[in-house]
Amino acid sequence: MGDPIPDDLASALDRSADGRGPFGANLHYFVETGSTNDVAGALAEAGAPEGTTVVASAQTAGRGRFGRTWFSPPGAGLYVSVIVRDRRAAPLLTLAAGVAVSEGIRRATGLVTEIKWPNDVLVDAGLGRLRKLAGILAEGSSGPEGLQHVVVGMGINIKPAAYPGDISHRATSLETELGREVDAGPVLAECLANLASQVRRLREGRAEDVLVEWRHLSPSSQGRAVEWDSPEGKRTGRTAGVDASGALLVHHDAGTERIVSGTVRWRS
Ligand code: BTN
Repeated sequence: MGDPIPDDLASALDRSADGRGPFGANLHYFVETGSTNDVAGALAEAGAPEGTTVVASAQTAGRGRFGRTWFSPPGAGLYVSVIVRDRRAAPLLTLAAGVAVSEGIRRATGLVTEIKWPNDVLVDAGLGRLRKLAGILAEGSSGPEGLQHVVVGMGINIKPAAYPGDISHRATSLETELGREVDAGPVLAECLANLASQVRRLREGRAEDVLVEWRHLSPSSQGRAVEWDSPEGKRTGRTAGVDASGALLVHHDAGTERIVSGTVRWRS
């Protein structure tokens, strides 16, 4: 299913095959599709195995967290979705995918990024301004026997693009930050290889290793002034790390809150 895999992606994937296990071994490429998460979800429903990967050069209905649009113009980014079936991996998969993308980008390009809880991949664009380079949308599907699969969707901005108004001052791309052309193939291969190794850690009960690496990549998860929306209204506090389940801990006047979903905004 799909279009022929472009040579640059195919050769980078060939070179990295040993370290990826099943991740990317079964890869469907599309010049354009609606959302790679939807394609991967349909493949998973039809029985596709763990590691099945969908890559597109453009998405017409790319989506982000909270139903936001993920701007996915042709050739400007990597739009990737991977099927994970391992139930032990599921609870921390969203943080693990953030580590995989951050580390994959560093290994492929040398660019150092950081993670904003739960899994926005940001880069210091100078003068302390952090801009978003990549985002992750993990979507699970459950049946009568519990979790069936999770689709891990990764969007990585490779080339500068005319981002729409509301995100233009918050988004950036690898080429913008590095000041040179970036080959998407190695970025894809390294992110998939790192996702494979994070999922292996989770499957083997080594979740703490994933969390240690995540904490290292997320300095803002400790001691950063934040605000968030709770059912009781807007609250403010200071981040105090993530717990073993990946929830963000925030100290505030009335105690410590565990934030399990949603987002927090940084206060200056
Ligand atoms: C976010 O930061 O809000 C998450 C963005 C996730 C975007 C990726 S692109 C590949 C996959 N397909 C989608 O429709 N979304 C994810």
